[in-house]
Amino acid sequence: MITVIGSINMDLVVQMGNFPKQGETILGKDFQTIPGGKGANQAIATARLGSEVTMIGCVGSDSFGETLRTVLQQEHIQTEAITSVSAPTGIANILLYNNDNRIIVVPGANYELKPTQIEAAKEIIQKSQMVIMQLEIPMETTAYAIKLCKEANVPVLLNPAPAANFDVQWMEDITYITPNETECAEIFGDNIEQVLEKYPNKLIMTLGSDGARYYDGEYPIHVPGYMTRAVDTTGAGDTFNGALAYALVEGQSLDQAVYFANIAASLSVEKFGAQGGMPTLGAVYARMAGVEE
Ligand code: RIB
Ligand code: NA
Repeated sequence: MITVIGSINMDLVVQMGNFPKQGETILGKDFQTIPGGKGANQAIATARLGSEVTMIGCVGSDSFGETLRTVLQQEHIQTEAITSVSAPTGIANILLYNNDNRIIVVPGANYELKPTQIEAAKEIIQKSQMVIMQLEIPMETTAYAIKLCKEANVPVLLNPAPAANFDVQWMEDITYITPNETECAEIFGDNIEQVLEKYPNKLIMTLGSDGARYYDGEYPIHVPGYMTRAVDTTGAGDTFNGALAYALVEGQSLDQAVYFANIAASLSVEKFGAQGGMPTLGAVYARMAGVEE
């Protein structure tokens, strides 16, 4: 069983022909309300591949919260450890223009996820094969969860987004960390090669469509991405993380697991929406084997 501790958002997605300049009003092309949040996205990415997944988080006692809980349940995710609180459900305002996106997240209920709720879910965490986290929840909660996992010997995969909520002191206690290039520079500084070498088989830097890089203790490893036509890259990183956790828990080597996660992410960007296009296990293997429709 894999546990995801993290955010649950409703994505308010506007498709546009251009981004507005400061003080400018423009007409958008389309508006959609679709489920998202890095935590929920990663939970769904993992569950679609066939893992048993439990999610720990908070939603508001409002219609978005209810919808999002139902969406998770439809994906066979355990939602008992998701609390409904009085703050409004988290939202992400997503502006989509061509393949580019700009996202503003308003955490709302996600910031009501406190260490006491992690403590209350202790037994779930202790029997997990891996815990996945991102940083759209309060830092004290992340710190608490990392400590609990360490005590229980449960591996942690941390996706440090947004990077501003990361504390370098956590590096010793987590098992894997998956920043993108920007997050990596923001957290560790510009000397990427040195940073990769410092955390062999732990720091996996994602490179968008170029795949991912890490250091295996002897050599720098670049696992190339699978080239495809992207419709919407929102949630590609989440798919990568969910798939990486799935593959590692299945016992794949880091090299294989990163390759697997790249393939999963490539499938996710072909469909609109963060959770749209997140593949099943069969779809990932079909692409690997080159036998998809
Ligand atoms: O990673 C993509 C996600 O980030 C979106 O679904 C949005 O909710 C934000 O949390
Ligand atoms: Na998608």
